[in-house]
Formats: sequence, structure tokens, C-alpha cells
Amino acid sequence: MTVSHHGEPRRWLRRAGAPRLEFGADYNPEQWPREVWAEDVRAMRTAGVTVVSLAIFSWARIQPRPEVYDFAWLDEVIDLLHAGGISVDLATATASPPPWLVARHPEILPVDRAGNTVWPGGRQHWRATSPVFRNYALRLVRAMATRYKDHPAIVAWHVNNELGCHNLYDFSDDAAVAFRAWLRERYTTLDELNVAWGTDFWSQRYSDWDQIIPPRQATTHPNPTQQLDFKRFSSDALKEHLRLEREILREITPDIPVTTNFMVMGETKGMNFADWASEIDFVSNDHYVLPGPQALDELSFSANLTGNLAGGRPWFLMEHSTSAVNWQPINVAKKPGELDRDSLTHVAHGADAVCYFQWRQSKAGAEKYHSAMIPHAGEDSAVFRAVTALGARLADLRRVAGSDRKPADVAILFDWDSWWASEQDSHPTDRLRYRQEALDWYTALLNLGIRADVVPAGGAWQGHRLVIAPILHVVPTDLADRIHEYVNGGGHFVTTYFSGIVDVNEHIWLGGYPGAFRELLGIRIEEFAPLLDGETVDLDDGTVGTLWTDRFQITASDVEVLARYKDADQPAVTRRPVAAGSAAYVSTRLGPDGLTSLLPALLGPAGVVSELPAELRGRVELAIRGEHRFLINRTDEPVDLGDGRVLDARGVIVS
Ligand code: GAL
Repeated sequence: MTVSHHGEPRRWLRRAGAPRLEFGADYNPEQWPREVWAEDVRAMRTAGVTVVSLAIFSWARIQPRPEVYDFAWLDEVIDLLHAGGISVDLATATASPPPWLVARHPEILPVDRAGNTVWPGGRQHWRATSPVFRNYALRLVRAMATRYKDHPAIVAWHVNNELGCHNLYDFSDDAAVAFRAWLRERYTTLDELNVAWGTDFWSQRYSDWDQIIPPRQATTHPNPTQQLDFKRFSSDALKEHLRLEREILREITPDIPVTTNFMVMGETKGMNFADWASEIDFVSNDHYVLPGPQALDELSFSANLTGNLAGGRPWFLMEHSTSAVNWQPINVAKKPGELDRDSLTHVAHGADAVCYFQWRQSKAGAEKYHSAMIPHAGEDSAVFRAVTALGARLADLRRVAGSDRKPADVAILFDWDSWWASEQDSHPTDRLRYRQEALDWYTALLNLGIRADVVPAGGAWQGHRLVIAPILHVVPTDLADRIHEYVNGGGHFVTTYFSGIVDVNEHIWLGGYPGAFRELLGIRIEEFAPLLDGETVDLDDGTVGTLWTDRFQITASDVEVLARYKDADQPAVTRRPVAAGSAAYVSTRLGPDGLTSLLPALLGPAGVVSELPAELRGRVELAIRGEHRFLINRTDEPVDLGDGRVLDARGVIVS
């Protein structure tokens, strides 16, 4: 057993046998007649499937009426899978409440900001804070655990599904009650809360806890700290649901590890997964590619962050797609080679399981146009052939299983509080995108052939030579202290616009921005000067800024100016040597190209060099797990590796 960075043991699937890379999918047999089940198991064996996630949306079948459980069909499916040598990641089935429960207890339904009930008809229509929902859900978890505790096919428990995917923000009266309890826990006294929320502004001072409500639809901007606390609370409320299910599972089946599928992807920002990771036995993630010029970089970024949430240990890719999804405005099919490349990029960043949504493409329902391992066309299809080939390749790659990710020299700090707070309303601009800025740095590093780790701000990043903190907006005192210690100890720190601005309560660090880093950076900003849409600023190093600029002075004599705004003749990018380290500041959005040209000036002094030959940098991504080097083609052309090997277009080589 290995110990994660949180200090508790990390577990993996409960199964005997040599380590391997798991391969599989969500399996929804209830959508198909029984005759198809045996066919499914046969085809799974053909494809090399080792594990499926089962019963995710099966509540209505398992408990057709309040007092009736029907496990017969599920017993049969699990037995069939087991006989076929396929393991089961068994869901607790609580993700989507059945119609009878909603009819009986409409008070479990979420309520939106404006007070409208969110009706059933889709899925996940439950409030995390509803005691009634919790009772029914936990009864089901107990029934599932008791029924299947001794079944040898079960290798893990899958709590609920994508907690918070659709029901994160609930403004109901249950939420109000739970929010007050959460606030009492956080602040103890109303006076403390009044200070933290700055309630002397706009006559918001509370004289009784019961006056406090979630930030429901208001006349204008609700109190910013109330909004931020509600985001923290909403993430915690779902985490609490996760813990409650987990406690029952641990009580009844202490030998079966518990996971739940995170959504480290794109703009899914409401769940603080850095804070959730220590609640489960191993980290799982779902990822879907978002089309666009940074699609593959975003995949790599997400996989990398997931690996760091897992403390560098292997994690479980619970869902991604074999080809198109069904929930974007236009759903693009994957090109030849992309299925392999996408899956193996996750493996390169630590995934020891490669699973898809879903096994067999649905014939009916809202996801019938979503790709699967077996498409509507059947097994005689390019997708199924690609799936089968990948299954064989993963079996060949079993030597990779269990290996830890090799830490990189560069870390990019990722911070949910800063993400939430920096994008709130009533700010200098509403165009700022926290994750996009972080991704742009990651892309620029990939362009230069430099590996980077995307690490939670609260995690272990002190060992990295260079730490980049894009838009690190919320800086509590202890984080400011850690950053100062890091630099004073010889670390190289880089931060950007709108960083170091507020404390944990979202109050400004006064005296000139960025209050938390003013001394360290040797600069003082008096005023922000965001840019209008389409407006750009030229820097004297040839790069171009958008979105943001600052009006700032240099306050320390040893600050170097790396770039100036041409027209304003003002500093734009600075770097200050501090002890054996340094602290640099980038005051505008340079985007991937601008950052690619700026970065060498920051990497050089930190002693960071590419591990790739010059001709491969930018065209190939390198990721390392243990002794295993993954070379991932970032282009649509073959790449000659210069050693007699050629990397196919969109190909991946593991050596
Ligand atoms: C996930 C979900 C799956 C499926 C998939 C489609 O959000 O967990 O059940 O809906 O997306 O991409």
C-alpha cells in the first residue's frame, strides 16, 4: 500500500492477479433485452474489456416501488459478467431518483436561483441537502452493499455518478438551512460572519442567523463573499453526500475500495476536487474532448491535474468517448487515430484504467447519438475495430500499470477558490477566464517541449524549480507565507494579472495591488486597466496583450523589466531576483503564442530545460511514468523521431 500526499493509504481495485491496465465502459444492460446480455459479454471479451461500471442509472429497476427491491436481473448480469471474467465497478445507483420517489416527495427536487422547481424528466434531480432524499438514497446504498458484499466480481464501489454534474447549485429552503449550519461551523459567531461578508456595505448586516439565505436572484450583485461561501458550501454539500454513502460502504464492505467519478474537464468548475480527493480510495475522472485549437492540450492538462489530485499515483479514467458526444452544439466524430491517442494520453498522465461512456450505444433516450464501444452499426464498424485494437494494445502495455508519474520541473498552481472568486460578477472585467489562462501556460510549455505538473495550490509544489500561479486571485495568509518561503528558499515564482488581490474572505489586500505579493514582486499597481473586446496592446518584445493591463510602478531597485507596453511606456512583465530564487509578474493576457515567446526568459534562470530533442519540441508531448516514456504526437502529420522510429499522425509511442 502506498501513501498519498494527503497521508492516507491509496488503494486500487480489489482483484487478484498481475497488475494490468483496465479497459471497459459504463454498462447499461437494463436498456436491452436479456438476449443481448450474453452477446455483450462475448463482444466484451473480443474487445479485451476487463471491467464495467454497472447500475449507475438503475434505481427505478432495482427499487421499482418503495418497499420492493428487485435484484434478480442485476444478479443475473453480474453473474454473466463474472463468468466471462469481467470485473464490476458497482454503482450505488443513487444518481437519478425514480419517478415514484419524486411523486411521493417533490421536496427533494432542486430549486433554481429564481425559486423555480427543477423538475424531473432528465436525471440527477435531487438536492444534496434534502434529508428525505438522503434517507432513501442511503437505504438503497445499504441494500446494494448488503446484497453484493460477497460477490467476487465486485472490484470497486462507484458512489452515485458525477456528483454535481446537474444539481450543484440548489437554492431551496433545505439548502438555506444547511448553508446556515455550514456558516455557523465556519464563523462561530454572527459578528465574525458580518465581518467576513463585509455586511456594512449596502446595509446587509445580519442580526439573526435565520436571516441568511443562499444568494438567490437579487435586484443586483449579491454579496460577493456570500456568493463565494455558497460555492464552497455547495461543493461541501455534495462531498458530504459522498462521505455518507462511503461510510455505509466501508461499514459493510471494508475490503472493497470506494471511488466516485470526478469531472476534471473544461469549465466544470463547481466541485473542489482537490478537497474531495482524500475522501475516496482512488481517484476516478471523466473527460470529454472540447473541440478547438487547444483540444488535445486541454485533455493533457486535465489528465495531468487528475494525476496530481491522485498524489501522483495511478487513477481510473471512468469515462471518455470513443468518438462524438451528443451534448455539444456540434458533435464532432473522432478522426482515425484519435481514439488511441486520447486514451493513451490519459494513461501517460497516470490512468491505469481506460473506460468509456458507454459499452453499447443506446437505441433510445437522450444519449442515442453519443458514441460507444459498440456503435449502432454493430461490431462490424471502424469504431469497434479501433476499440478492439486498443484493448490489445493496453494488454501489451500492462508493464506500465502501477507506475507513478515522474514529477516535472515546472508546476502550474490550480486553485478552485481563485477560479470561483476571480470569475464572480462586479469585477473589472467579466471576460476573464481562470482555467483558460492556466491552460495557455500549459500549452506554451508543451510548445517548448517542457513537462509541467498542474498542482492544487494547497498541494505539494515546493519541490518544483519553477512555480507558475496564473490568476492566483484568492491568497489567504498561509498561502502567501508558503509562496514567500518558496522563493526565499531558492524557488522561482511567476504570477499574473489579478493575482494576490484578495484574502480568504475576498477582501482586498490594501496598499496597492497585488497586496499579497507586492513586496515579493517589487511592484505596486494603483489601478487595473482591462481592455475592451477586440482591443490589444503591443509589448516591446513583439508579443500582444489582450483582456487586461495594469498601471504599475516598480518599487524595488533590483526588478528587471522583461517587456514594456509600447505606447504607454509602462512595464508589462517584470522579474525580480530574490535570494537564490525570483518572482516574476505578467500583467496582461499573452495567450499561448505570447507565453511561448516569453517563457524561455523565465525557464532559463530557473534551470529548466526541455527533455526532448530540439526538432521534436512542440510537435511531440513527452510524459513519463516510472521508467516509461510516452511520446504523443500533437500534430496531424507523422513525426520522424530521428532514431529510426516514426510517430504516426496522432500516434503515441511508449518506450
Ligand atoms: C457523463 C455521464 C454519463 C454520460 C456521459 C455522456 O456526464 O456521467 O452518464 O451522460 O456524460 O458524455
